[in-house]
Amino acid sequence: MGKTTLITGGAGYIGSHTTLALINAGQQVLVLDNLCNSCRESLTRLERLTLTRVDFIEGDIRNTKLLDDIFSRYDIDAVMHFSGLKSVEESVRKPLDYYANNVVGTLNLCHAMARYEVFKLVFSSSATVYGAPRQIPIIEDLGTGKPISPYGRTKLMTEELLADLCLSDPRWSIALLRYFNPIGAHESGQIGENPNGRPNNLLPCLTQVAMGRVPELTVFGSDYPTVDGTCVRDYVHVVDLADGHLKALQALQSRNGIHAWNLGTGNGYSVLQIIRAFEDITGISIPFKFAPRRAGDIAECWSNPTKAGRDLGWYAQRDLVRMIQDTWRWQLRNPHGYHAQSDLLAPVALKQRV
Ligand code: NAD
Ligand code: UFG
Repeated sequence: MGKTTLITGGAGYIGSHTTLALINAGQQVLVLDNLCNSCRESLTRLERLTLTRVDFIEGDIRNTKLLDDIFSRYDIDAVMHFSGLKSVEESVRKPLDYYANNVVGTLNLCHAMARYEVFKLVFSSSATVYGAPRQIPIIEDLGTGKPISPYGRTKLMTEELLADLCLSDPRWSIALLRYFNPIGAHESGQIGENPNGRPNNLLPCLTQVAMGRVPELTVFGSDYPTVDGTCVRDYVHVVDLADGHLKALQALQSRNGIHAWNLGTGNGYSVLQIIRAFEDITGISIPFKFAPRRAGDIAECWSNPTKAGRDLGWYAQRDLVRMIQDTWRWQLRNPHGYHAQSDLLAPVALKQRV
């Protein structure tokens, strides 16, 4: 068997799209996931799409014995590290879970990597490390800020931990990929975002309304100093993100040390602009009501992705129309996500625009 890339969290939303990109690029992969926010079906879909068996171990990155076992059995030469908890709101209620999973989990993983002399790591970071940005569009070189949530602090702490690791040993090559707002799904409609429980992010909440499961969308805040009073974000297609991971891994073959790259489109859209674009593209009306600002939201945030363009040759290829079309295709083909059906959810009743 050739050199293998270990993909932690590879059954999840961004991890599954990246696993697909790696397999399509002819690479050998091994997915490690405890399925706490995903299911085996995403990997079965990948197998169908690629006509390849996906090596999978169900397990937790906090299990040091398991990590030892994996690194001793497989010829791993790089790790893509997606696993972690990602809900901003939940992190406020359960900070210990977030620090244990995201920070201690990464620490365990790095220990195992060092023991087995695997020094290439691509880490899923987030624009949240910039906190309230001092300048927009955001460039990497201005430095990080003060994240507003425990979730954001786990990402910043992990970045700092990884920077210290690179200082301590020049053999490490680490990519910090700072995602902006990932949305969309693979064009096949076979894999996509499948959040457990009640969604928090804008697109999953919006599609719940479009599917008729929730009567209206709540728009948090109408008095921000933005184009129309609602928050502006840089939405980026998950397939473009996957391609960014592939390019970052290639770049690590010839550079040591730690490198941060923004993965965003460089364009900002407000919540109202997203609602209108969704209505235009799908023909479905999205009733909404305004509510007070959501704690921890910043008014505006979008990237300057020039550094990723220059260093990696990566540019987001897919525009907002494509992002919404692909999100909607995934949703329509999989009204209950990866589950064939669910009696927990109300039946689907699409609201055609009148
Ligand atoms: P996701 O929840 O779909 O995927 C994470 C995967 O990790 C899941 O399959 C989950 O089961 C697994 N996992 C969690 N804890 C684990 C553990 N201890 N051991 C093994 N597996 C574990 O999330 P996603 O949207 O694909 O995000 C992937 C990464 O990108 C996360 O680190 C997240 O913080 C980061 N990120 C996501 C976004 C976003 O908006 N989706 C934005 C910025 C950064
Ligand atoms: N929003 C609504 N109604 C909803 C859901 C969201 O108005 O029902 C608004 C939010 O208030 C915000 C915007 O839509 O103004 C985007 O919110 P999301 O929750 O989709 O995304 P965030 O920008 O808050 O956070 C996301 C990820 C984080 C990541 C961050 C990086 O969830 O993990 O992007 O920019 F850190």
